[in-house]
Amino acid sequence: MDGRVVIQEVARRLRSAGCVFADDEARLLIESAAGPDELDRLVRRRAQGEPLEHVVGWAEFCGLRIAVEPGVFVPRRRTEFLVDQAGALLSAMADRPGGLGSPHHPGGPVLVDLCCGSAAIGVAVAARFRDARFHDARFHDARFHDARFHDARFGDAELHAADVDAAAVRCARRNVAQVGGQVYRGDLFQPLPDRLRGQVDLLLANTPYVPTGAITLMPAEARLHEPRVALDGGPDGLDVQRRVAADVRHWLRPGGHVLVETGRDQTPDAVELFSRHGLHARSVDAHDAGGAVVIATLPSA
Ligand SMILES: C[S@@+](CC[C@H](N)C(=O)[O-])C[C@H]1O[C@@H](n2cnc3c(N)ncnc32)[C@H](O)[C@@H]1O
Repeated sequence: MDGRVVIQEVARRLRSAGCVFADDEARLLIESAAGPDELDRLVRRRAQGEPLEHVVGWAEFCGLRIAVEPGVFVPRRRTEFLVDQAGALLSAMADRPGGLGSPHHPGGPVLVDLCCGSAAIGVAVAARFRDARFHDARFHDARFHDARFHDARFGDAELHAADVDAAAVRCARRNVAQVGGQVYRGDLFQPLPDRLRGQVDLLLANTPYVPTGAITLMPAEARLHEPRVALDGGPDGLDVQRRVAADVRHWLRPGGHVLVETGRDQTPDAVELFSRHGLHARSVDAHDAGGAVVIATLPSA
C-alpha cells in the first residue's frame, strides 16, 4: 500500500475510535511499527484507549525521549515547569560564593528523584550536566539545554531515583542508564543509601496528588491505564507530600531544596506542610502549564 494511503487508513481507524490527533498519532504509530502486523496491533491497542506513550514506548519530555511502559505513569508536559524551576535553583547555587562547582562544593549536584516513575524529572535535570549527545535532535528544546553546566568544574550530577512500584523502577533504570545514576525500589526515603543524609542539593518529588474522590473524574486513559499508586494522594491529595515534608530535612544539605508539584488549590496547604517542618517554603504558579510547584529550602545553619 502507498505510504499516504497507509497514513489515511490508520488515521481513519484512530478517528473512529475517538482520537483527536488522529493524523499525528497515525504517523507515530507507523514509525514505531516494524511491519504491517505490528502496526495493526499498535493501532488496535491505541483504539482501545491505551495511552499513545504506552503504545509507542516513549514520551517526549524536556526535549528528551523518555522510555515508558504499560503500568508506568506517563510524564506530563506540565511537569517540565518543575524541571525549569530546578534549573533556575541550580544556576543560583552556582552563582553563590562557595556554591555549586566551587572548592566548597566541587562536582555536580546530588539529585534525588523521589516517586520517580519513569525518572523523567531526574533524568531531565541530570541531562543538563551532560553533553548534547543525550538530546534527541528531533525534540531539541533550547529551554532545557544549559551549556553553562557542561563546564568541567561541575562534572556530572549524581542522580538517585526511587519508587515503590516494580514496573516504575524497571522503566526508570532504562532511562537513568542514559545519564548515569542509581534507581532503588521502596517506600519514599527508605531505600536511599544512608550516606546521602544531609548531602542532597535538590530533591525532586512529583508525588501522587489527586484527591481520592477526584480519581473517578480523571480521563479514562489515566484512570484505567496508570496505576492507582501513581495517582491517589489520599483524601486531600496531600498524604504523600505530608510524609515527604516530615522527613526531607534529614536528607537535604543546608541550603538544599525540595520541589513538589501540586494542584493550584492545594498550594497553600502544601506550603504550610513544609513550613511546619522548619523549611522556608514558597510556591510558584505554573500559569499556562497549570498547577504549581512548591519549593522548600532547608535554612543554612
Ligand atoms: C504522579 S507519579 C509521578 C512519576 C514521575 N515522577 C513523573 O513525574 O512522571 C507518582 C509516582 O509515585 C510513586 N509512589 C507512590 N507512592 C509512593 C511511595 N510511598 N514511595 C515511593 N514511590 C511512591 C508511584 O509509583 C508513581 O510512580
